[in-house]
Amino acid sequence: HAADAHRTDLMTITRFVLNEQSKYPESRGDFTILLSHIVLGCKFVCSAVNKAGLAKLIGLAGETNIQGEEQKKLDVLSNDVFVKALVSSGRTSVLVSEEDEEATFVEPSKRGKYCVVFDPLDGSSNIDCGVSIGTIFGIYTLDHTDEPTTEDVLKPGNEMVAAGYCMYGSSCMLVLSTGTGVHGFTLDPSLGEFILTHPDIKIPNKGNIYSVNEGNAQNWDGPTTKYVEKCKFPKDGSHAKSLRYVGSMVADVHRTLLYGGIFLYPADKKSPNGKLRVLYEVFPMSFLMEQAGGQAFTGKKRALDLVPEKIHERSPIFLGSYDDVEEIKALYAEE
Ligand code: AHG
Ligand code: MN
Ligand code: MN
Ligand code: MN
Repeated sequence: HAADAHRTDLMTITRFVLNEQSKYPESRGDFTILLSHIVLGCKFVCSAVNKAGLAKLIGLAGETNIQGEEQKKLDVLSNDVFVKALVSSGRTSVLVSEEDEEATFVEPSKRGKYCVVFDPLDGSSNIDCGVSIGTIFGIYTLDHTDEPTTEDVLKPGNEMVAAGYCMYGSSCMLVLSTGTGVHGFTLDPSLGEFILTHPDIKIPNKGNIYSVNEGNAQNWDGPTTKYVEKCKFPKDGSHAKSLRYVGSMVADVHRTLLYGGIFLYPADKKSPNGKLRVLYEVFPMSFLMEQAGGQAFTGKKRALDLVPEKIHERSPIFLGSYDDVEEIKALYAEE
């Protein structure tokens, strides 16, 4: 209908969050201001990613990060953009980024009540070949007025007040939860606005896709090996699951959220804590999965109940459709 073509009731992400905020009369809009600065960072990275090939933004930056990974130019650029945007918001006190060895403590005059942990560019290995990449973030509140310390971000994921990711793919989608469900916003480049396109995303209870790097199979432990075997050679006469693995957590998790299934980055003999980082990969994605009706498990416990001791700590992670994760929990329980 003509009306649809020219929808006038545009639900932008800012309006959506303002609506949410109106439920907290005492709030002074700090979260809305913080989010608008995260959104600015995502718009910048989206534009940089889209012209990376043209703007000579692919290739290495010639540095390596604390993770021992060679930093790509886009890793460094997006990290700089997010740090500057978050500090200038005047709403943050502590920042943790995958690309910075130490936490950033905001100068007193610009401090605010939030602490943000983020992966400025997730899936860096996919930048140079044009495969989807993303940004992941999680938000804690600072619950004191003393000098901020890393203790303010070494908290369990169950204390996060919001989490989200932005995926730079065929379209630019920002998926966010502030604790009342999961909502997807698509960037309309002609407006420069993220418009609500996927309200209240719920993950199917069961899926027929498993997502893991099969190249690590020789190093997996028993339960993971058994589970993947079950996906490929089901004993109960059901169909084998499909394997889909992009290698960018944001893309693999986004597909899992929309289509159902399970994403696994297990521990293995080489890396007993797996590869993915607790604060800015495992926690935000686990938060979103639970908010969408799924779950997230570390092999030992509910992922959000982990208490990190170091800002770049890693953990194995199994997340996705509720029933699929239940199956792997049962296998670890037998251990
Ligand atoms: P990052 O690019 O931020 O370092 O993260 C890469 C991560 C994650 O995006 C993905 O799920 C995982 O690395 C893929 O690891 P493998 O290549 O070992 O499968
Ligand atoms: Mn990295
Ligand atoms: Mn990452
Ligand atoms: Mn990264």
